[in-house]
Amino acid sequence: MKRVHVPEVEDWSLCPDWFRDCLTRQIRVMCRVMGYEHAVASVLGAALEGEQDPHILDMGSGAGGIMPEVLKALRARGGALAGVRVSLSDRFPNRDAIASIQELQIDGLEYLEVPIDATDLAAAPEGVKTMVNSFHHLRPAEARAVLESAHALKTPILVFELADNRLPFALWALTLPLGLAVTFFISLLLTPFVRPLTVRQLLFSYLIPLVPLIYAWDGQASYPRIYGASDVDELTAGLDDGYTWTSGHGENHRGQKTGFYLLGTPSAPRGRGASDT
Ligand SMILES: C[S@@+](CC[C@H](N)C(=O)[O-])C[C@H]1O[C@@H](n2cnc3c(N)ncnc32)[C@H](O)[C@@H]1O
Repeated sequence: MKRVHVPEVEDWSLCPDWFRDCLTRQIRVMCRVMGYEHAVASVLGAALEGEQDPHILDMGSGAGGIMPEVLKALRARGGALAGVRVSLSDRFPNRDAIASIQELQIDGLEYLEVPIDATDLAAAPEGVKTMVNSFHHLRPAEARAVLESAHALKTPILVFELADNRLPFALWALTLPLGLAVTFFISLLLTPFVRPLTVRQLLFSYLIPLVPLIYAWDGQASYPRIYGASDVDELTAGLDDGYTWTSGHGENHRGQKTGFYLLGTPSAPRGRGASDT
């Protein structure tokens, strides 16, 4: 497997939630600049085609990520997608995120209070399953278990990552200092656009620049952790009866190839919610 599990600070249990939220908000700004919500919507739109009552169950949602923006981008596509609904979920539901999603009062967007473990979807609510910017946090055995569970239930699943892991690891390591410096300065530039822009975010960005530092490290560390094209072939080996796997790049609103996805769909045509139990 090409993937390398380089440690990310965000994964540490000792990392305070408020600090993790500062990092997540930065990622959201970056995603908006790059048009990731359109790239995710470009693949999801196709996966939801033919659904009369389209519903997405996002897993590993953390603080919510870019799913509110994805919902808007999907709805803008019109037709049945104008009524698409998104349920956010996590194995450890984030209480603050539940409250802030409720505050947003976006029609068709909710955060489930019950824990949803992506490795065991038997009791999960129906809908197209998504994991956006979270699959690379899973070790191979857990990642395989997620795909196995979706395959066993013949439920569609979309894994979307913000980049494709194409660079050889040695080259990644060689260019790491430059990558860290560039990402650090990008973080400083993006900070004024973070919402909500808290005193903590400003303090730990401009006075004690821990947020840009860790944002740079985690951003660079996540690259080799992504399951790229050859890795997803390995992860999905043997999971093809009655099920089709496709992978590739999303497309943002400027027509640029953005991110990397793995999409699993049941081979048989699906009716209204017919494949999900
Ligand atoms: C990087 S965070 C959140 C990513 C989020 N989608 C975003 O874009 O900001 C990854 C999340 O995955 C969750 N997670 C890890 N393993 C999981 C599993 N087996 N099932 C569901 N969620 C899981 C963690 O609790 C964490 O909140």
